[in-house]
Amino acid sequence: MAEITFDRVSKRFGGQHAVRNLSLTVRDRELLTLVGPSGCGKSTTLNMLAGLEDPSEGLISIDGRVVNDVPSGARDIAMVFQSYALYPHMTVRQNIGFGLEVRRMPKAEIARRVDEAAKLLDIDHLLDRRPRQLSGGQRQRVALGRALTRNPKAFLLDEPLSNLDAQLRTQMRAELKLLFTRIEGTVVYVTHDQAEAMTLSDRLVVMRDGEVQQVGAPLDVYNNPINAFVARFLGSPAINLIPGRLDRAGDAPRFVANGLAVPLVGRLARLAADAPEADIILGIRPEDMLIAPPDGGIPVRVDVIEPMGSLNVLYASAGPTRLVVTAAPDVFPTPSSTVGLTLAPDKGHLFAADSERAF
Ligand SMILES: Nc1ncnc2c1ncn2[C@@H]1O[C@H](COP(=O)(O)OP(=O)(O)OP(=O)(O)O)[C@@H](O)[C@H]1O
Ligand SMILES: [Mg+2]
Repeated sequence: MAEITFDRVSKRFGGQHAVRNLSLTVRDRELLTLVGPSGCGKSTTLNMLAGLEDPSEGLISIDGRVVNDVPSGARDIAMVFQSYALYPHMTVRQNIGFGLEVRRMPKAEIARRVDEAAKLLDIDHLLDRRPRQLSGGQRQRVALGRALTRNPKAFLLDEPLSNLDAQLRTQMRAELKLLFTRIEGTVVYVTHDQAEAMTLSDRLVVMRDGEVQQVGAPLDVYNNPINAFVARFLGSPAINLIPGRLDRAGDAPRFVANGLAVPLVGRLARLAADAPEADIILGIRPEDMLIAPPDGGIPVRVDVIEPMGSLNVLYASAGPTRLVVTAAPDVFPTPSSTVGLTLAPDKGHLFAADSERAF
């Protein structure tokens, strides 16, 4: 398999940067996800690695060999796109084996690889069907099968699940994870879906406007976001980001926002001690707040409750400040009532108001 390196890679279209100064190593056998909002440069990065776009600057290497001048077909990587582009007149078997036939591989070897991939993907009973006789998820697996039979150095997948409905996406997500654990391939996966990135990846790369924001294991990045953008991008419901200021006048520091005063203890007090400015943003995840009786904690008004079955999502407000809190399914305060919120110990983040960098 393969280690992939981007060394100060940029891509400009006209005068506009699609990718700016990207330096990144994809480790051998790792599943690395590029994640970020639409237009942040994920596909452009993948296309440069695949050889479908030339970098404007910088070097791309596979296993230590610079591939900038190696044509796409000679890079020994397989790519799966969002639109699986199956041949409608060919059977599943022919679709999966087509790339190998083009390479003039012996027929017996093609049959062996097609069977192996089909078994792995649980589509071996569908080999004689045509694409239109398959469900979306099955078509997706055929496209993956085509990539798997190539036995390439690396797999590149660009939003491979985005044509599937929500339930199938979740199911395929788990299947993909299992599949790539089994084949031990180096995988670069592109998605704008934070849940997919969180659940699938060994490491993820959060991108914004063509630039890398943060690289790390999903939970490390989730728990230690480098800035408010990363904090907001990972997690659903999203983290609460409340602009306010530090009040150090009393014995203990407080965070004060419009309609809200939060005593800072533990982790937040330590972070506050490092924050040079008074203007800050408090970041607190919906799952890091607990509902207490109104006389304990920070008083907030419950506006709306969304019962999800496994949990309740509470939309609350303190004056003009709005908060989202998740609670256990049996925590069901009356709408319009006032409850008390307490912050879970050693949770929460403080960001600079101007740069949005974490303290
Ligand atoms: N061929 C092109 N010509 C000009 N601009 C382009 C071209 N391809 C991409 N761009 C621009 O480069 C930026 C990055 O595009 P890219 O396709 O890499 O984004 P993305 O992160 O994959 O987004 P999405 O999630 O919507 O697929 C965008 O601003 C896009 O408009
Ligand atoms: Mg894209």
